[in-house]
Amino acid sequence: MPYTVHKLNDYSAAALDKAFADLRDAFKEEAVGVSGLIKFKGHRDHWLARKNGVLTLVRELWLKEAPEEARAAVGKRFNDTKSYIEGLVKTQGMDLDLRRLESSTSKRIQTVAEWKQAELGKPLDITLPGIRRPIGAEHPVIKTMNEIVGVFRNLGYSVEEGPEIETDYYNFEALNFPPDHPARDTQDTLFIAGQESKPLRDRLLLRTHTSPVQIRTMQKMRPPVRIVIPGRVHRNDPPDASHSPMFHQVEGLAVDTNITFGDLKGTLDHAMKALFGSSVKTHFRPSFFPFTEPSAEMFVSCFICGGEGRLRDGQGCRPCKLTGWIEILGCGMVDPNVYGFVDYDPSKVSGFAFGMGADRIALLKYGVDDIQLFFNGDVRFLEQFI
Ligand code: PHE
Repeated sequence: MPYTVHKLNDYSAAALDKAFADLRDAFKEEAVGVSGLIKFKGHRDHWLARKNGVLTLVRELWLKEAPEEARAAVGKRFNDTKSYIEGLVKTQGMDLDLRRLESSTSKRIQTVAEWKQAELGKPLDITLPGIRRPIGAEHPVIKTMNEIVGVFRNLGYSVEEGPEIETDYYNFEALNFPPDHPARDTQDTLFIAGQESKPLRDRLLLRTHTSPVQIRTMQKMRPPVRIVIPGRVHRNDPPDASHSPMFHQVEGLAVDTNITFGDLKGTLDHAMKALFGSSVKTHFRPSFFPFTEPSAEMFVSCFICGGEGRLRDGQGCRPCKLTGWIEILGCGMVDPNVYGFVDYDPSKVSGFAFGMGADRIALLKYGVDDIQLFFNGDVRFLEQFI
């Protein structure tokens, strides 16, 4: 039977001594029967719970109800008994803890050091060397972007970046793609839904190229401008071995007085030699972009087959589709119309721009045949580039 607290009628010293002695005996008797953590908790709460624990009830029924002249005598006995019981509960709890530790370490714990070891575990030995975490590495696409950016930084270009969620104005209109112009069809765009009530120029989309950063930069900077723009771009292209709805570009822009197509060719030829080796050749073929005039596609001689179109064993070279040339970027002289959007005087300045797909270059550089491998996050693939 668990102990229950009765009212006290007799407050004489002898009666008090007996009542408190009975209380302690009852506690001891119950404590002896306690084994295991769950029973211990019940026992502890029975005696010490703030609400309705035996000691709380003793305080309520014996101490608070005591007549004035007996209060000090009850108080002293109560305090002694309370610390006695609390002390024993504490020791009992620690003892249980110890037994739990001993059973988990199957070793008798005798010293404080052993107790610490069992309680805190061995990693806590601060004299051991730390755990070295693998530090990861640059993703092959980021690495390639950084290399390209590095080539242009060495030429005095500075790095600019811009938002991936862009307005129609910066992504198209200010780059001389008028609304409804068929050139817009060349970039299958992901628009953000539900913007029909906004004027077209303010509608948000995922930028399809890094070229809007040309406009943003020219708006805040007067010529001379020499910038390189690495960034992520998006198009509504279903994923396959050579397409991904998200990919990366590195863009460049140089605007100054008297910049010519010769500067464009010289700069890009140098950049390709720096990237792919001094023996590569470049050639240009006319093309069209709304924001450059004239425009071109630049090809580099295939650095896989050395421009032969065939490998040593006579097999056709796939990366250059047997032509000996790899299309690497789009470029051209900045269209004078574009200067109108950024308040530059086209009769005073001229410039060139170029843009290349960093993922495509990484594919070629590392001989990877599926762009999806770059983006599906398989560490076994990525580890190879450390
Ligand atoms: N922005 C063009 C594209 O994504 C590439 C480009 C950039 C062409 C700069 C000319 C000049 O296709």
